[in-house]
Amino acid sequence: TQYSNILVDTRGAVTLVTLNRPQALNALSSSVLEDLIAAFAAFEADESQRCAVVTGSGEKAFAAGADIKEMAEKPAAEFYADDMFVRWQSHLVGAVRKPWIAAVNGFALGGGCELAMMADFIIAADTARFGQPEIKLGVVPGMGGSQRLTRAIGKAKAMEMILTGRMMDAAEAERSGLVAKVVPSAELLDCALKTAEAIAAMPPLAVLAAKELVNAAQELPLGEGIRLERRLFHVLAATEDKAEGMAAFVEKRPAVWQGR
Ligand code: HXC
Repeated sequence: TQYSNILVDTRGAVTLVTLNRPQALNALSSSVLEDLIAAFAAFEADESQRCAVVTGSGEKAFAAGADIKEMAEKPAAEFYADDMFVRWQSHLVGAVRKPWIAAVNGFALGGGCELAMMADFIIAADTARFGQPEIKLGVVPGMGGSQRLTRAIGKAKAMEMILTGRMMDAAEAERSGLVAKVVPSAELLDCALKTAEAIAAMPPLAVLAAKELVNAAQELPLGEGIRLERRLFHVLAATEDKAEGMAAFVEKRPAVWQGR
């Protein structure tokens, strides 16, 4: 597939997606969204692909937000009619059962921060800066930022950031629980790809279940989440990969996964 706003590269079982509008700090225009929707659908459908990494081209930005120049001219009725923001949620979160990692270099602002938070987790360069500056434009986050940031870092910090629009550096983001890990900028992509390869080497059904369960913890009451966990444990207990994984441990040999 030809994309005009992103680069897609498969490396073994890992799909690398690079936002590629460095001249606009990878601002997320509606054509970027169309490309991402197609790339994620291809990733999800390709049985050889097990984990994805999304990053930004250029040193400066992961993504500096939704495209302000595009939004500036857009009437409210059109925002409502095309419902662009819901498509990020439905195509990059709802329809994607396989895990993906955001590798955040430089600015992750507004929609860029929201895109990073849609990932299963974030690995950040030490140069990364996160923020939800929408308030300075007369709006609020529109792609989940107010909800995901609050769940990730708690009410006090999320409220302060969303009301002031200030940026948070990588060290504070790690302290606050927004990112899984911070690495030197030069090692970011390598680290994210290695992490994705490690996930890609895990038994595929257990990976899908693990992602589903951790996400369920964000939405379900504790008792229901624990019940779901038990059910999925029981489902996995009936798989060939469970028999293989445990036999391999006992026999002191590497497991060979079938994905069934
Ligand atoms: C369109 C953008 C952009 C954006 C940067 N650019 N961010 N274009 N949409 N979100 C463009 C600039 O216009 C400029 O293009 C080029 O990228 C380089 O940016 P500069 O501003 O010259 O760089 P710098 O001075 O280093 O400042 C970097 C920055 C700043 C601090 C990140 O660009 C900035 O504040 N950007 C906007 C961040 C933001 O408000 N994001 C939230 C958007 S709203 P030209 O052609 O002029 O050289 C959002 C909400 C979504 O995401 C849902 C609710 C509505």
